[in-house]
Amino acid sequence: TTRTPLLAGNWKMNLDHLQSIAFVQKLAWSLKDANHDFDGAEVAIFPPFTDLRSVQTLISADKLPIHFGAQDVSAHDSGAYTGEISGAFLKALDCQYVIIGHSERRTLHNETDEVVNTKVLAALKHGLVPVICVGETAEDLEKHGPSAVPVAQLKAALASVTGAVDIVVAYEPVWAIGSGQAATPEQAEQVAAQLRVTLRELLGDEVAEATRVLYGGSVKSGNIAGFMREPNVDGALIGGASLDLNEFASIVRFQK
Ligand code: G3H
Repeated sequence: TTRTPLLAGNWKMNLDHLQSIAFVQKLAWSLKDANHDFDGAEVAIFPPFTDLRSVQTLISADKLPIHFGAQDVSAHDSGAYTGEISGAFLKALDCQYVIIGHSERRTLHNETDEVVNTKVLAALKHGLVPVICVGETAEDLEKHGPSAVPVAQLKAALASVTGAVDIVVAYEPVWAIGSGQAATPEQAEQVAAQLRVTLRELLGDEVAEATRVLYGGSVKSGNIAGFMREPNVDGALIGGASLDLNEFASIVRFQK
């Protein structure tokens, strides 16, 4: 595969400001140290909005090999939307990525497939790479099998998206998130392969081949290698384990 693996840490609403800064500095050291180990893989972090400016400053000052993005974006460009953060603001902070449709936003903040779609369109419009999250609940899995819900969510998220778009898809089974019960590499591969088939149908061969499909849900240093061996899994979206420097650094160094 020619796809660059992506190891992405979603901090969610964790780490205070001082912890964030210390984390980025230590991660940078650890990555510099390990440069030869993770060659080829891309590392990205997703801090809370309030730390994006500091992360941008740290990363650009030292030209650190760390990419970053936000955990959400407004569907709107600007205006009377109290509390919202637009894609233009994120772009101005040098965010490259934005997570869209994480299951916590779908369930706790009532984000429908339609909302996810408008946010994907907003991200693309502002030159951000959307990390589109899809995944089934345990109940969905029992009722509809492994791929039906993630595939339907991806189709909805990509409604009226066309052309050579730069996107990332993250398959996160809801039952695996924060549960310690990761999917098996085979389960992740099966759904990732179906998601790639869907990308091919919707956006054509080239985009389907270029798009990274990540697995997320209880990824840690002890299980990352198994996922990375699967041909259709191009990286991971890591929650809990991304908050622990040693864990995250070993995940990033999965090849060794
Ligand atoms: O965005 C990350 C996922 O929700 C995975 O979280 O690694 O804590 O299971 P987790």
